[in-house]
Amino acid sequence: MDPKFRFDLNEIIARGERIVVDVGCGSRKKAGTIGIDKIDLEGVDIVSDLEEGLSFFPDGSVDEIHCRSVLEHVENMEGLLTEMLRVLKAEGRAHIFVPHFSNPHFYSDYTHRRFFGLYTFYYFVEPAKQLKRKVPNYYSSVRLRILKQRLVFRSTFKLFNPFKKACGRLINLHPRVQEWYEENLCHFLPCRGIEVVFTRDVQQRQAFCLQAVAESGQAPPQQDFCGARSAMDSPGGTPERIACDRFG
Ligand SMILES: C[S@@+](CC[C@H](N)C(=O)[O-])C[C@H]1O[C@@H](n2cnc3c(N)ncnc32)[C@H](O)[C@@H]1O
Repeated sequence: MDPKFRFDLNEIIARGERIVVDVGCGSRKKAGTIGIDKIDLEGVDIVSDLEEGLSFFPDGSVDEIHCRSVLEHVENMEGLLTEMLRVLKAEGRAHIFVPHFSNPHFYSDYTHRRFFGLYTFYYFVEPAKQLKRKVPNYYSSVRLRILKQRLVFRSTFKLFNPFKKACGRLINLHPRVQEWYEENLCHFLPCRGIEVVFTRDVQQRQAFCLQAVAESGQAPPQQDFCGARSAMDSPGGTPERIACDRFG
């Protein structure tokens, strides 16, 4: 699918304006953002299939990404995460919302492809920065740094809302409480979704690429379409860059 543009993106990039993007904006685009969606709805600025990445943005060109209720729809989530990290500036932030696996409405939507839990995004994080319960990060070469993660509680029954929100405040007091809640309580008090804010973890990405080259010379288990070069800060020619380019 060739992207369709409602404005001149190159001109905005050339002017050096702040770029804030709403990935999979649907019909409720966040104000002041560039909206991307595969369906040509009102407010969508770039009509494009996210399965094909964000190739229209150069490396390190985006200040902020918002992506709400979209990753559960996308087949190649790892590819899209890699693309997000590629286009983000070094200090850029991605603000993501995904449904929690205990959200009963999750199952009604036949277009949903995957579940999310407290640990899902930690599969892309080095063990020392993970939660108390560790998960393997060797499935993927994607490396990100989680700055904040919050469980969101809300009910469609308005009277029940204050109670759920109060529980949410307690549960979000500490990551250990979140972990206890998810293990023991989430099916009694379902959670609507997870808000996560992450940024690039350049050092970890470089370490992963160098180790992969040193050990096998083979591509990492999950090769992504946009290339390991995505998370690199350094200009071309460094060993890290060469190593990462090999996995592109
Ligand atoms: C549940 S809606 C969320 C819309 C909006 N972010 C919101 O919070 O209201 C999911 C959106 O993701 C878009 N989407 C799903 N898969 C996509 C893809 N492969 N490429 C582009 N957009 C996609 C859908 O068209 C839809 O607008």
